Amino acid sequence: MTQPNATGEPRARYRDLAEKTVFVSGGATGIGADLVTAFAHQGATVAFVDLDAEAGEALRTRLEAQTGARLAFTRVDVTDTAALVAAIDAAAGHQGRLDVLVNNAANDRRAAVETVGPADWDAAMAVNLKHQFFAAQAAHRHMKPRRAGSILNLGSTSYKLGVPDLTAYATAKSAVRGLTRQLAREWGRDLVRVNAIVPGAILTEKQLALWISPEKEREILAQQCLPRRLVGSDVAEMALFLASDVSSACTGQDFVVDGGLT
Ligand SMILES: NC(=O)c1ccc[n+]([C@@H]2O[C@H](COP(=O)([O-])OP(=O)(O)OC[C@H]3O[C@@H](n4cnc5c(N)ncnc54)[C@H](O)[C@@H]3O)[C@@H](O)[C@H]2O)c1
Repeated sequence: MTQPNATGEPRARYRDLAEKTVFVSGGATGIGADLVTAFAHQGATVAFVDLDAEAGEALRTRLEAQTGARLAFTRVDVTDTAALVAAIDAAAGHQGRLDVLVNNAANDRRAAVETVGPADWDAAMAVNLKHQFFAAQAAHRHMKPRRAGSILNLGSTSYKLGVPDLTAYATAKSAVRGLTRQLAREWGRDLVRVNAIVPGAILTEKQLALWISPEKEREILAQQCLPRRLVGSDVAEMALFLASDVSSACTGQDFVVDGGLT
C-alpha cells in the first residue's frame, strides 16, 4: 500500500504518545487537522488553536467521538503573541506537562513582489515565522524542568523551488531552518529537541481549491520521484515519529516530506 489510510488513522503506533500532551497551532483545517487527528488516534492529549473556530470545534467534537481522546480547542490568532502564550500555558497547566509543540499555522498568501508593502511584509513574518519563536519559547519553559520535549516547526520547500508571488512567505519559511538549528543548539542541554518538517506539495482541500489545477498536479507528479498525490497524513506520520521518544537522537534537522520533489 502506498497511499495513507483514508480515515486519518495513522499506520504507526507509538506507545509513549498516549502519555503525552501535544499543542498544535493552526490545527483546525488542512495539514494541521491531519496532525491533530493523528495525535488523537495515538491517545495523546491534544490542545489546538486556530482562527477558524467553526472548523476547530467540529474537528474536536468528531475526534472525541471517534477516538475517545481528550482534546481542547481555543480560537487564537497566532499573531497575538500574548494570547498564543496564554493558550500554551493553559494546555501545559491543565495536564501538568507539555511534551510536544507543533508550530503549524501559516498563511501562504500570494502577492507580486512589486506590490508588497512594509505592512504586508510584517504580516507575512508574523503569521509564518514570529509565532514559531514565541510558541517555542513558551513551550520550552514547560519542557526544561522535565528535561524532555519535542518542538516541530513547519517549514516549506517553496524557497528552494522559487514558487511565483510567494517571496515573503518563502523568506519566512527559509528562516524556519535557521530558527530550528539555533534552538536545537540552545536547548539540547535541556534534552529538548527541535526539528523542522519540510513539506513539498501537499494537496489539501485549500491547495486544490485555490492553486493546484489538474494540469498543475500532473506537473508536480512528473517532478516528484514518487508519482503519487501527497496528503496531510503523510506529514502527520513524520510528526508522530519526531514527537515520539523513538526519535530521541534526532534534533536540529529538516525532515523533508516531498516525494522527492526537491
Ligand atoms: N500544503 C502544502 O503544500 C504545504 C507545503 C509546504 C509547507 N506547508 C506548511 O505546512 C503547514 C500547514 O499547511 P496547510 O497547507 O495546511 O496550511 P493552511 O493555510 O491550509 O492552514 C493553516 C491553518 O492555520 C490557520 N491559521 C492561519 N492564520 C492563522 C492565525 N493568524 N492564527 C491562527 N491560525 C491561523 C488556518 O485557519 C488553517 O487552519 C504550514 O506551516 C505551511 O506553511 C504546507
